[in-house]
Amino acid sequence: MKKINLPPYAPILMESTRAIGYSLEAAIADVVDNSIAAEARNIRINFFPVDEEYVYILDDGYGMNDEEITNAMQYGSKSPNEVRDLNDLGRFGLGLKTASLSQCRSLTVVSKKYEKIVCRQWDLDYIASTEEWSLKELEGEEIENLPGLDALRALNTGTLVVWQNLDRMRLGEVDFESAMGKKMDEVRAHLSLVYHRYLSNEMGNKKITITLNNLQIEPDDPFLEKKSEVPMDDETMVIGDSRVIVRTYILPHPSKLGKAEIDKLGGKEGIRRQQGFYVYRNKRLLVWGTWFHMMRQAELSKLVRIRVDIPNDLDDLWTLDIKKSTAIPPEIVRRNLKALIERMSEKSKRTWTFRGKKEVDDHIEHVWNRLKTSTGGYLYEINRNHSIIENFIQQYPDAKKFLFAILKQIEGAIPLNALYVDLSADEKIDNETLNSLDDVKGVLKQVLSTTDSNIRGDIFESMIVSEPFIQFDEELRKAFEKGEFND
Ligand SMILES: Nc1ncnc2c1ncn2[C@@H]1O[C@H](COP(=O)(O)OP(=O)(O)OP(=O)(O)O)[C@@H](O)[C@H]1O
Ligand SMILES: [Mg+2]
Repeated sequence: MKKINLPPYAPILMESTRAIGYSLEAAIADVVDNSIAAEARNIRINFFPVDEEYVYILDDGYGMNDEEITNAMQYGSKSPNEVRDLNDLGRFGLGLKTASLSQCRSLTVVSKKYEKIVCRQWDLDYIASTEEWSLKELEGEEIENLPGLDALRALNTGTLVVWQNLDRMRLGEVDFESAMGKKMDEVRAHLSLVYHRYLSNEMGNKKITITLNNLQIEPDDPFLEKKSEVPMDDETMVIGDSRVIVRTYILPHPSKLGKAEIDKLGGKEGIRRQQGFYVYRNKRLLVWGTWFHMMRQAELSKLVRIRVDIPNDLDDLWTLDIKKSTAIPPEIVRRNLKALIERMSEKSKRTWTFRGKKEVDDHIEHVWNRLKTSTGGYLYEINRNHSIIENFIQQYPDAKKFLFAILKQIEGAIPLNALYVDLSADEKIDNETLNSLDDVKGVLKQVLSTTDSNIRGDIFESMIVSEPFIQFDEELRKAFEKGEFND
């Protein structure tokens, strides 16, 4: 073993940066960022929880030579102000070290480039015992038993990052092995979301695969691209020489989704909580599910997710923490987003509240259905699956037949001609305002009063997206939170 003595910084820096507060999944992602920046196409992550436990991350990127790997292992290997390659996901010159040592006491990096294998190791125990800040350079037999080494050898170029002595991952775990299983699930979920665009076909020949203990990680698309609506054209903000591209998605109403899809979106409550901006830096998801205090998370906007694509040449304008987990996009981008939100909320309100001319949309449970008939005409029919009707039938199953007969009579007797004349003369039709907040509250109260208190919340949620309740959505929600429907 040779030693490379670096300038005499205090070893204490290494111990103290361990407390930056990385979660395991954020730490892994920081290492994966480096692999992607090194143009890797295949990234293999392995967790080995027993005996001499380890985690390794192996990539087939362009690798590092002797000089590069020494540099890579130093704190601040690149200045945050340095202009980065367009594909680079790095910023601070710290991630590899701070992320790794937040989880383990021994970080070994091995890299293969031009048929040559080079290796460096930070070993906190060694540093503590020698009180020297020395980077170990391991060679030959010293690396022979390193996990993942054979797989690295089999590649033309690539890099292997090995974490050993996982003290921080062990912290507070009684049964480490089973805790590790749970942690792996969290890592999998995190990676499938933050890299979903790299894992999907969107990237063409830049697509990557990531495996976790040999199981491929599938992309988790938060916009349900195939099913969601894109209600307006993409917006392009030109900022200096850079372009920020913004696309608004409206998710389908949960009633149009299968259980697996809803679960993927975080469950019904998760859908609401995850509304907001999804901000990508170089297609890597950095922050999501927030409106950056520009508006509050509201019922009306709960299906709205806005994708914001920012290239890395605006980096100096971001407020980015070292872990890259609290990222606030540049002020100039936020200002533009605010204007967009205002336009979008107008639009979304119109879709939701069914005011004005829009007759059909997918997001509200309407009282009336408009159906095309086999003879080419249209039939206006009262929605038998409407939550009020469903609740009524549940309570009075015997009345179902009678109720349906009444509904049929009402449907058959719509005063179409009178309506037609009034509408063409631009007369105001007051039916829409027939139900006051108090009326609607009264109906809702009646329905909820008969429900069991532990499912009342669910019933409320299903009612609130229906007419006429949706018109008073905010007020009713407040009343519900105040417990007004409890007796
Ligand atoms: N898997 C890898 N393949 C090739 N080079 C790598 C790899 N991992 C790290 N490097 C090199 O090491 C350097 C330091 O990595 P590190 O993650 O510490 O900082 P960074 O990526 O530059 O910035 P950040 O702190 O934002 O992650 C990188 O800039 C890169 O040159
Ligand atoms: Mg990095």
